[in-house]
Amino acid sequence: MQTLILDSKEENIAKCARYIARGGVVAFPTETVYGLGADAFNADAVKEIFRVKGRPSDNPLIVHVCSARGIREVAENISPLAEKLISEFMPGALTLVLKKKKGLPDCVTAGLDTVGVRMPSNSVCREFLRACGVPICAPSANTSTKPSPTCAQHVYDDLYGKIPYVLDGGECEIGLESTILDVSGAAPRLLRAGGISKEALEKACGCSIEVVAGNTVALCPGMKYKHYSPKAEVLFSAYYGGMSERIAEVYDTLVLSGKRPVILCADFNAEKYGERKMYKMGADYRAYARLLFASLRRADAENYDTVLAEGVPSDGIGAAIINRLVKSSGGKII
Ligand code: TXA
Ligand code: MG
Repeated sequence: MQTLILDSKEENIAKCARYIARGGVVAFPTETVYGLGADAFNADAVKEIFRVKGRPSDNPLIVHVCSARGIREVAENISPLAEKLISEFMPGALTLVLKKKKGLPDCVTAGLDTVGVRMPSNSVCREFLRACGVPICAPSANTSTKPSPTCAQHVYDDLYGKIPYVLDGGECEIGLESTILDVSGAAPRLLRAGGISKEALEKACGCSIEVVAGNTVALCPGMKYKHYSPKAEVLFSAYYGGMSERIAEVYDTLVLSGKRPVILCADFNAEKYGERKMYKMGADYRAYARLLFASLRRADAENYDTVLAEGVPSDGIGAAIINRLVKSSGGKII
């Protein structure tokens, strides 16, 4: 099978929607990362997603909808708190875990009685969802364990020959996945840090939100798998006063031992590293988030064998950046 990157004109969106209607799998843009989608009510098509991606079948998928009505097609018993979060944060980078509706195939949710639902804000994505006319379940459109794709080319690089179309919506605005909040039980619980900050959610909920740590794997099955890993070894530093000096020191030691490291640093720290190889990650942490996965892929393409990533403050989008750095490094802190 040939894989084509299709620009986002109307006839291409219609072509992708027709392929979905025939039970096919296509990649599409969202504001977080690219997704690999199929009709959530077609169990065979859903199974094809797992096959194409090489994803373990016990890891549930997020269902994407373009309206509040779409949420009710896949979820039920939606609490007043969940309703409030829907009206405040959707469309946007928030996934809510809700009670699953009976008719939704079990393979979407890996047998759980809950379903993750999200309403993307990206305009190409919304047109695509509207054209499909059915809820679309999708994981990120990378090969399992690779960094998530933030542009059409990343999807093409991972999935060439496995899907016919990648719908191109340009570069993802956020660049890290959605925040996952479980509102199916008595108190809200944060399962994955992402595009919407915990602070913003707590403000809306009017209470503090419990963060479920990575060891409680059964709650968010995806957390137990190796993730976001380029070929290069990723090492990252905590965020503190001596961070740049420490990174420079580790860089020099690596070079002496024959390694090819590259530093990921905020623009305002760049001059501290002198002539050392670095990728500038922008003027603020939103930019760092947007560039992170692309930088991990770029390091592989440019044959660096070690990525030395600066740490960031842990509030706002920083929590999501730190989470992804911990996963891609396997927790290797310098
Ligand atoms: O931004 C995003 O969320 C992107 C775009 C494509 O929408 N999607 C994404 O999907 O990141 P994926 O499959 O790479 O990650 C989904 C995560 C997994 O860790 C999975 O275990 C968790 O969501 N998840 C899905 N349904 C769940 C449920 N019912 N309960 C708990 N966790 C769930
Ligand atoms: Mg993923």
